[in-house]
Amino acid sequence: MIELTDVKKDYGKGDYCTHALQGITMKVERGEYVAIVGTSGSGKSTLLHIIGGMDQLTSGVYRFADEVVSDYSLSKLQDFRKRNISFIFQNFALMNKYTVFENVEMPLLARNIKKRKQIVMDCLERVGIANLKSKLPTQLSGGQQQRCAIARALASDTQVILADEPTGALDNKTSSEIMSCFSDIHEAGHTVILITHDMSIASKCQRIVRIEDGKIV
Ligand SMILES: Nc1ncnc2c1ncn2[C@@H]1O[C@H](COP(=O)(O)OP(=O)(O)O)[C@@H](O)[C@H]1O
Ligand SMILES: [Mg+2]
Repeated sequence: MIELTDVKKDYGKGDYCTHALQGITMKVERGEYVAIVGTSGSGKSTLLHIIGGMDQLTSGVYRFADEVVSDYSLSKLQDFRKRNISFIFQNFALMNKYTVFENVEMPLLARNIKKRKQIVMDCLERVGIANLKSKLPTQLSGGQQQRCAIARALASDTQVILADEPTGALDNKTSSEIMSCFSDIHEAGHTVILITHDMSIASKCQRIVRIEDGKIV
């Protein structure tokens, strides 16, 4: 479903140019559960941003299902992202002024979905924090905040869920609880791609892709 062919991404120009991705060719099938590993600065986040349509490539081809995403303008890219991709970040990226319920409701409001209450509660139940619906993110532990972010991704109802170091800010026990959340999501049929530099986390996925200096090794 996701197919990258000789994808390159440069940041900056001339003497200040960083070749962040130097010819990535990879495929991810629908419903796969993939870990991307590599040292800091190897290009993991850049690769995830490209897959997620957050950024345009410098060269190469990116196909997603029957779409040629690498041909898209920035506005088409934004539309592609809304339709297909949810992101989960290391720092959770929740809206701290809004309750857990409201954070999860947000993608439904954006899509003008009716009967939101039931959907939000279903998503919160799937990640085990329905009882925290009226709390603010700042009143939650790191693990609970990440569960909220995962519930928000579920509410977006996208096929693909991308996560950049989702357990990077969590202790070992909480990390493995969050990983079992991702396993459930994968089993429900989502395509899940996550970045980690922790091999014990990566080993929970179906497949590991290692990246070094912007290349798959
Ligand atoms: N927005 C940016 N502008 C300039 N350089 C960047 C930018 N984002 C990443 N880079 C550079 O690209 C390389 C890969 O970065 P990144 O994809 O963030 O690596 P990782 O996630 O594996 O740590 C690094 O050398 C980094 O400094
Ligand atoms: Mg990174």
